[in-house]
Amino acid sequence: MSFPACRHRNRKTKPAAQSLVWLGSEPYRLFFLSGILFSIAGVAMWPLFFSGNFPFYPGVSHARVMIEAFGGAFVIGFLGTAGPRMLSAPRLKPWELAAFFLLHLANGLCHLRGLTIWGDGLFLALLTGFALSLGTRVVFFRKEWPPPAMLLAATGLVCGIAGTILWLNPAWVARPEIQRFAGLLLYQGFLLGPVMGVGIFLFPRLLGGDFGEDVTFRRMALAAVALLASFAVEVWVLPAAGQILRAAALLFALAHVRWRRGKDAATPGTLANALRFWCLPLAVIGLIAPVFSPLQHIALDHLLFVSGFGLLCLIAGSRVLFGHSGSLERFAQGSWIARGIVFATVLAALTRASANFMPKIMISHYEYAAWSWAAGAGLWTLWHARRFFKRDPGDD
Ligand code: HEM
Repeated sequence: MSFPACRHRNRKTKPAAQSLVWLGSEPYRLFFLSGILFSIAGVAMWPLFFSGNFPFYPGVSHARVMIEAFGGAFVIGFLGTAGPRMLSAPRLKPWELAAFFLLHLANGLCHLRGLTIWGDGLFLALLTGFALSLGTRVVFFRKEWPPPAMLLAATGLVCGIAGTILWLNPAWVARPEIQRFAGLLLYQGFLLGPVMGVGIFLFPRLLGGDFGEDVTFRRMALAAVALLASFAVEVWVLPAAGQILRAAALLFALAHVRWRRGKDAATPGTLANALRFWCLPLAVIGLIAPVFSPLQHIALDHLLFVSGFGLLCLIAGSRVLFGHSGSLERFAQGSWIARGIVFATVLAALTRASANFMPKIMISHYEYAAWSWAAGAGLWTLWHARRFFKRDPGDD
């Protein structure tokens, strides 16, 4: 399995149209950039609110911006680039790219302004349109079947769509258990599915080996069922059992990944080490910790949100950006900038997760955590600034 750069440009088309065709074949270039900027806006709501410079309490809007506008941008950027390639199907057309990107921008801006219903409606349109676009390619245009792990990525999209539909029906989410279920589907399932599915073949590559392919459809189906069941078990049976089942589903799905470096393998770079030592361990701790402190689950969930989702987006995004701009080897190198990014994001995760355990300094910790994430995300954006729109010189 590869994640190749597009090598088929039509030389007869005009430069502007050519650029749109190019961006359609590599939508991550737009989505990663706007997603990371939304993430900075989404955390900045907290210090702005506490300093009296934000007009409303940002609880719901923050959550939606972070999951829909930030996480969603990385999911669509990644699957929109890799999906058609895996199927050997046509890349996204310029009109598809334009429609998805406008929906995404409008979705994020609505949530920043507290227009939750509008924001959710636009997100539903975006996810449904995107799923239909990939689904059409699977049914009518594929030359190859997608790898089994993509079942998990598709499960994530289904969670996102189902969770948003529930949120859009006030009568349903008036019931606390449905509200919790909707929250789990949208805030966890939507991103855990792609993390598990894409991780199975991408993590081995990030760790210095080949793309992982060694998984069966049956295994992936089992992981998907366990993930979905974990939400229902948490809400309707026993919260702790659901949380443990979800952590088990993640570990089961990623069990094939060789986390330990082989004796003759090259030294992994800063970002690959961050994946092994921070990202995944903190994600698993974030999934299990609420078992021991259920009342603080939102604080502890942030170990998953900030490290498992946020830092992972930055690591996988770096691999894609380096790989598609002709400097793949830089991903595997040690880097002080990358260390700074990892430090800032892990600090944000730990500061946010611990804040609620210290009520006297809780608000100042929210602020430190927000600035720490903003610093890491800002550094990442500047680090890759040239690469967002730089072609791979080998891509003629
Ligand atoms: C790093 C700085 C961050 C701070 C200070 C922060 C702060 C908060 C606070 C105070 C809440 C509770 C809101 C309420 O209950 O009314 C919350 C909820 C939430 N945050 Fe964050 N957050 C941060 C980062 C993130 C990141 C990076 C993500 C996702 C990638 C995220 C996703 C969420 C979600 C989904 C919720 C809702 C959880 C639920 O209701 O179950 N947050 N955040």
